Amino acid sequence: MNAPLSPPLAMLMELTHRCPLKCPYCSNPLALDRARDELDTATWKRVISEAAGIGILQAHFSGGEPMVRSDLPELVRHARAEGLYTNLITSAVLLNAARMAELADAGLDHVQISFQGADAAVADHVAGFRDAHEKKLTAARLVREAGLALTLNAVVHRQNLHQLSAMIDLAVEAGAQRIEVAHVQYYGWALKNRAALIPTRAQLDEATRIVTAARANLAGTLTIDYVVPDYYAARPKACMGGWARQFFNITPSGKMLPCHAAETLPGLVFERVTERSVGEIWAHSSAFEKYRGTGWMAPPCQGCARAEIDWGGCRCQALALTGDAGATDPACGLSPDHAMMAALAIAESGAAVDDFAYRMIS
Ligand code: SF4
Ligand code: FES
Repeated sequence: MNAPLSPPLAMLMELTHRCPLKCPYCSNPLALDRARDELDTATWKRVISEAAGIGILQAHFSGGEPMVRSDLPELVRHARAEGLYTNLITSAVLLNAARMAELADAGLDHVQISFQGADAAVADHVAGFRDAHEKKLTAARLVREAGLALTLNAVVHRQNLHQLSAMIDLAVEAGAQRIEVAHVQYYGWALKNRAALIPTRAQLDEATRIVTAARANLAGTLTIDYVVPDYYAARPKACMGGWARQFFNITPSGKMLPCHAAETLPGLVFERVTERSVGEIWAHSSAFEKYRGTGWMAPPCQGCARAEIDWGGCRCQALALTGDAGATDPACGLSPDHAMMAALAIAESGAAVDDFAYRMIS
């Protein structure tokens, strides 16, 4: 039985897939949208108004790199006028003083800057972009000087985990209120680069120890969120808070998705905001209804005490590793595929594969 539909909490707008960086774990799909197919300013503003109309509270501006869109301040201003909390998720390499002033004037509430390492040698290599690290440090200072809330997003993996302590120190020095230490999750580009990114069990245990100690030492100074890799988990995360329960994504060309990787699921039709309203897609789209709630579940999820806690885990991961999007996420120890997932982690984390397939538009 499915509970009555609640309004979503947040919308993530992928304004563009264009990006100067080439991170090998990018959450964008392998087939990236072209600039010529991006929604125009007027359509994005209508989408924001429609999303506010169905009750969302947060508007996340993302990409690609959202700052390549010159209309970003106009969209932020519009979202604020609709009463939404506005968050910019950025690589920050395009964030200079003039653009920071424009965004602050538009009413931007919060900036989330991704860091690829604690020094330029590691960070610029992972990002595939020279001087990226230096530009990010400058941008973080500009955010704080503008009086905006700052979160550092530290995406960690086998090739930068040795810098985790230094990344936490960097967040404190930058004046961030929060750092999100997020182990790479393996979809899309990250799945393609899994053998070069997945940490060893010993690295994961050391990272968990560092985070636990830092949380104690920095209580009241820095909030540390911690996302562990599913491949070493005993139970899955509630991906997106459950399929089509709290969040949705809009792609640059206007497809509305329950999660960033949803287009990998075969047989689902994702409707466009140019053809149907945000509210109608949220409530009635067959793709949103397909895995909403618990009615679609088979054993061991069906009847499980955690069914309304983790919602069966991640549909995209279930598909990627078992070939069945309706299967229990293999991150769950009760899944018949769990042992296969754990074996993959051990085999690939010990492999001598360090080269990346960098993200790029083909
Ligand atoms: Fe979650 Fe399904 Fe595992 Fe139960 S069986 S813990 S609902 S993934
Ligand atoms: Fe699609 Fe988890 S990424 S449901």
